[in-house]
Amino acid sequence: MAAALLSLFLLFASGVNSLSQPTQSRETTIHCGYQACSTPEKNKINVHLVPQTYDFEWNKAGFPSFEITVPNILSSVVEALLRNANRRFVFANTAFFWKWWSLQNAASRKQMRKLVQQGRLEFIGGGWSTNDEAVTHYQAIIDQMTWGLRLLNDTFGECGRPRVGWQIDPFGHSREMASIFAQMGYDGLFLGHVHYNDKRQRLNQKEMEMVWRGSSSLGPAADLFTHILYTETDEPHDFYMDFLCSNFTVNDDDKYSSFYRIKQKVNNLLETINHQSRHYHTNNIFIGIRMSSNFRYEDAETWYSNLEQVIRYVNANQDIGKKFNILYSTPNCYLKAVKDVNFIWTTFKNDFFPYASNGHNFWSGYYTSCPTRKYQTHIANNFLQVS
Ligand SMILES: *[C@@H]1O[C@H](CO)[C@@H](O)[C@H](O)[C@H]1NC(C)=O
Ligand SMILES: *[C@@H]1O[C@H](CO)[C@@H](O)[C@H](O)[C@H]1NC(C)=O
Repeated sequence: MAAALLSLFLLFASGVNSLSQPTQSRETTIHCGYQACSTPEKNKINVHLVPQTYDFEWNKAGFPSFEITVPNILSSVVEALLRNANRRFVFANTAFFWKWWSLQNAASRKQMRKLVQQGRLEFIGGGWSTNDEAVTHYQAIIDQMTWGLRLLNDTFGECGRPRVGWQIDPFGHSREMASIFAQMGYDGLFLGHVHYNDKRQRLNQKEMEMVWRGSSSLGPAADLFTHILYTETDEPHDFYMDFLCSNFTVNDDDKYSSFYRIKQKVNNLLETINHQSRHYHTNNIFIGIRMSSNFRYEDAETWYSNLEQVIRYVNANQDIGKKFNILYSTPNCYLKAVKDVNFIWTTFKNDFFPYASNGHNFWSGYYTSCPTRKYQTHIANNFLQVS
């Protein structure tokens, strides 16, 4: 609901406006989309680390500090990406990207264009916001998706085009939304919140990934590969690595002070990955490393270099690492790796409603609350269409 209203509000208010080695050619040529993906290793568990942001987008939206924090975070990420061609970052909601973009000078925009052309910064979702799926009208959904995607296309061309839907915070998911995404040409969809009983059963039956048939009348034309995230809200336990949240300054040169801590961190991570891999069919594991609500990423360099020490430690250490290949990745690249496996997925033909996060928390009150506001929103959208 909040997301839906936010999307509409912003729509109205916005009348304007693998650790593969870097090569020379990569610096200069267009290399985005699936071409930018590293090849996973066949006989290992490939751990796709996906640096991303999401939470701050809604969390900061209502606060005065928003205008200050979002630009800082993105600028910090851009700087860190420019320092190392292996680093990746994905960005979901165009409204917040646009705030940053509109404040940048020509030189900064040029750098961002370069990162996007090289697939180092990728857009996912790409609508103006992440819309709610339960109480929004499809016309408003299509409007807000169109506006966000048009800005990305106008600004970055084909490399700005998101390949995956990114609906990780709506409270339940509609079949119609899957159908809309499929018809808009998305290749896959990532979901965050699924009813706790449903999720438990899917984990047990390895059905966290499926083909969602969005429409019975359209058939395969509305099919969309769908992935349910293992950890819906955060990165693996004990893995905060930004300067404010962490007590984790990895320094692998200083064997005496930090060796044991790296080892412990990595063991925790690998344990999580082992658990997770039992619930998915392929040898690819998706680990979203999200900035949550606490201003993580404002010092992106610290965060990336900590991550890289963990990556190096796992990939170089034959004891721990022989089963794993950790790589920077994106949802697009995870999708490609999973699709390349050629598994026959189950087909799902229903809604994910209602959402319950546990036995006493059904997220269904918002279906009927604020009826007047919903009415006004629908009427306003009619006027928008007419004008
Ligand atoms: C994207 O932008 C290009 C160049 O302006 C334009 O030709 C193309 O039609 C746009 N694509 C979509 C889907 O709007
Ligand atoms: C950081 O970790 C060390 C060792 O576990 C502990 O002694 C120290 O109090 C921690 N510092 C903070 C600020 O949490």
